[in-house]
Amino acid sequence: MINDLWYKNAILYCLSVGTYMDANGDGIGDFTGLMRRLDYLHGLGITAIWLMPFQVSPQRDDGYDVADYYGVDPRYGTLGDFVEFTHAAEQRGIRVLIDLVINHTSNEHPWFKEARKDPHSKYRDWYVWSKKKPANANTGMVFPGVQKSTWSYDEEAKAWYFHRFYEFQPDLNTSHPEVQAEILKIMGFWIQLGVSGFRMDAVPFIIATKGPDVRKPEEQYDMLRMFREFLQWRQGDAIVLAEANVLPDTDMEYFGDDGDRMHMMFNFQVNQHLFYALAAADTRPLVKALKATKPRPATAQWGLFLRNHDELDLGRLTEEERQIVFAAFGPKKEMQLYDRGIRRRLAPMLDGDQRRLELAYSLLFTLPGTPVIRYGDEIGMGDDLSLPERNCARTPMQWSNEPQGGFTKSEKPRLPVISGGPYGYEHINAAIQRRHPESMLNWTERIIRMRKEVPEVGWGDFTVIPTRDPAVLVMRYDWRNNWVLFVHNFDAKPREVTFSVGLDGDNAGYGKLLVNLLAEDHSRADGSGKHRLVIEAYGYRWYRVGGLDYLLRRTEVDAPLHAKTGRRGDGMAAFPPARSQGKMRP
Ligand code: NOJ
Ligand code: CA
Repeated sequence: MINDLWYKNAILYCLSVGTYMDANGDGIGDFTGLMRRLDYLHGLGITAIWLMPFQVSPQRDDGYDVADYYGVDPRYGTLGDFVEFTHAAEQRGIRVLIDLVINHTSNEHPWFKEARKDPHSKYRDWYVWSKKKPANANTGMVFPGVQKSTWSYDEEAKAWYFHRFYEFQPDLNTSHPEVQAEILKIMGFWIQLGVSGFRMDAVPFIIATKGPDVRKPEEQYDMLRMFREFLQWRQGDAIVLAEANVLPDTDMEYFGDDGDRMHMMFNFQVNQHLFYALAAADTRPLVKALKATKPRPATAQWGLFLRNHDELDLGRLTEEERQIVFAAFGPKKEMQLYDRGIRRRLAPMLDGDQRRLELAYSLLFTLPGTPVIRYGDEIGMGDDLSLPERNCARTPMQWSNEPQGGFTKSEKPRLPVISGGPYGYEHINAAIQRRHPESMLNWTERIIRMRKEVPEVGWGDFTVIPTRDPAVLVMRYDWRNNWVLFVHNFDAKPREVTFSVGLDGDNAGYGKLLVNLLAEDHSRADGSGKHRLVIEAYGYRWYRVGGLDYLLRRTEVDAPLHAKTGRRGDGMAAFPPARSQGKMRP
């Protein structure tokens, strides 16, 4: 197993250039501004930035409608500014991932303009057409309520074109070899300019078969290997983080049995069930989701998130579970979106209650995978529900209590800065929180620092420890003869739990001592080897198992499984199983 897969334990931070920091005062954030904030990000402790689309675009879907893949939108700066930025990030040890939006282009992309104008143009086949209105034109919309169909008639082309998303986002014919070659060229271009990989937008749709006669789209998973091979050849440590909201039984298709497809995927299954657990103080469906998404190749990793730039999609919950989450976190119609989700930011969903925010973040940092933080959540920013669709949670970063939250010198930022009320920049901003040791910002900085000292989460194997109390989640991670254990109480009341750490053989003794990494209250097991804890409302604990001499005990390789018993050996020999971390463990 390779030792230094950086993404296994990274701290990702996602942001839009346009709403982060405006250096030239035109009301739109830019690369120069972002570059000036790199010291802030470095101080926070993040190790990689995921930039939402910044390429040339008419901006009808916040840049997810690209009109030129090889250029920076002039609103954000120049290609030169971009390279200065990636260089400055690299100097601080921060990697940059960028969004790769190649399921569709903008309808203003020159390829589409050519394609609709001239049926003989080579670009005609780069899109998906039909002479007649396809029978399924009014099905499969991603944005129900806003998007009317998935096929629209184009007057100029005198034909219908397919668009999985908005009508101004014609789908690329991604099965076409020339389109595939172009996708690789786009990847190669940005790799050359200093990025460490891509967050690949809408992956299930990229690889799906498309066309008027396609009744049930089929995924062409081999395309994923092609992207991977190209990327790994051009730059060994570059990765793809796939946006694929799919069911667990297809996860391995996306990762590849031999870890030969996507390096990372967002764990939507855990995300949705985590919100249910937070709403209902019931961790059982979350535990199911954790177990269902456990199998993955040893080199692959989950991207974990709480909120992102889209709505919180609850489509994978049962109707009953979904209604519980709506009632708790988005009871009003204006808080909901597309009949399936909540469009609010995290802090207002949790009533700005720092105990609950810490609980949610503690989970983000300790569930299996690599955490992805959304800009502004580190200070508990709110939302502006008067803005349409998902824009409510995309308002400018709140830096200080100076005009426009210190985001811009302009009086007219592109999206309004949240002002007044409990989430206004006057109260919620980075500058004020810097001065308060217990602020969300300083808490986040400290927890990131601790998370970096707990590599077990990213590398290790986890076990959910039974407690008989569905409101409390106890998890242990094992890696290289070291163990950590996390306890989270989802309930609004204190809970008492009893459990054993569950180490056996020579290691059983270590399980008797739990050293608290965040506070002074350590735990010693009773005579029968059980720990009894009282955890306050929404409380959380990070423990090292067996004492702080763990680094003196850490082995250089994982303990192999004992052939006969299926249990861990003494950690002296051989390699861990190469694939399917979860699948192959006892
Ligand atoms: C997924 C992105 O996350 C979302 O913001 C966008 O609207 C769609 N893809 C369409 O590109
Ligand atoms: Ca600007």
